[in-house]
Amino acid sequence: NIHIASATAPVNIATLKYWGKRDKVLNLPTNSSISVTLSQTDLRTLTSAATSPTFTSNKLWLNGEEHPFNDARSVQVLTHLKELRKKLELENPALPKFSEWYLHIVSENNFPTAAGLASSAAGLAALVVSIAKLYQLPQSYSELSVIARMGSGSACRSLFGGYVAWEMGQLQDGSDSKAVEIAPMEHWPQMKALILVVSADKKDTPSTSGMQLTVQTSELFKQRVDVVVPKRFKEMTQSILDKNFAKFAELTMKDSNSFHATCLDSFPPIFYMNDTSKKIIKLCHHINTYYNETIVAYTFDAGPNAVLYYLQKNETKLFNIIYKLFEKLPGWKSDRANYKQFLDQ
Ligand code: DP6
Repeated sequence: NIHIASATAPVNIATLKYWGKRDKVLNLPTNSSISVTLSQTDLRTLTSAATSPTFTSNKLWLNGEEHPFNDARSVQVLTHLKELRKKLELENPALPKFSEWYLHIVSENNFPTAAGLASSAAGLAALVVSIAKLYQLPQSYSELSVIARMGSGSACRSLFGGYVAWEMGQLQDGSDSKAVEIAPMEHWPQMKALILVVSADKKDTPSTSGMQLTVQTSELFKQRVDVVVPKRFKEMTQSILDKNFAKFAELTMKDSNSFHATCLDSFPPIFYMNDTSKKIIKLCHHINTYYNETIVAYTFDAGPNAVLYYLQKNETKLFNIIYKLFEKLPGWKSDRANYKQFLDQ
């Protein structure tokens, strides 16, 4: 008498960053954000949820190892899903009483967890969808994203593939703070992402506490959420709908820089990027200047690793440069003359 359901959720990388909460318990953000979801064949979490009247406790296995199923965020998410299932059972007493049974969860990433990538977003999204499937909940993905959001803000965007917006919403109960699809992956399939793992170390300041410090201490932050992001949100959405890479790239790079600027403007300051990250930024600008065309955009989350966005047609060009650089210039310098000479070869 065991019931099982499985789901996968992709990793998403924000191109317009979520940074700041107006409600810490419900994870309600101070601005709307946008992300591009990475391909499920490359980076995703696969989660299976099982329930049975014979289970004697909740259990959780992550990448083959058993972990206690007691972190506050997963428990909050589970409580909400159980409440929704309970409603169904009251409406239809013939349904098995899943809401009263324990769960066994098995979750696995198809990428090295140590790579320092945001795996928690995909993890929480897959947890929510697998249990929602098991419980046969009628809620849409947007409605389920509200529950994933309570687990981790950025997780709500991993409910969808492709180009996704998290609308900040206005309501106090957070029911309108949800993810919506801007466009599916097929709308702009030429878009590619390249991850440069600069360091696999654990991040300095966890994003949850980092964003609290920014909200409390940064003056620049107010300008960012009141003026900069609302305008950028509209422009970035349009650039995706228009498949305008130059515009999309410019906004993505500017928003990464704006987010890291508010981190630096926090007090005491928070540094997520290191010297290698800064060299990657310079390199991207040099490449775009050299080709007199925007062929690459960078973005950095709460850590030093870079995610580069580019169009498929420019892949060979970009990879040649990056591979050559790593091979020939181990201690690569970031002055323009050096790059020009190098790119001319
Ligand atoms: C820099 O979603 O990890 O990656 O809601 O506290 O779990 P919590 O924070 P989290 O923050 C992500 C911050 C970011 C930007 C983004 O993904 O939009």
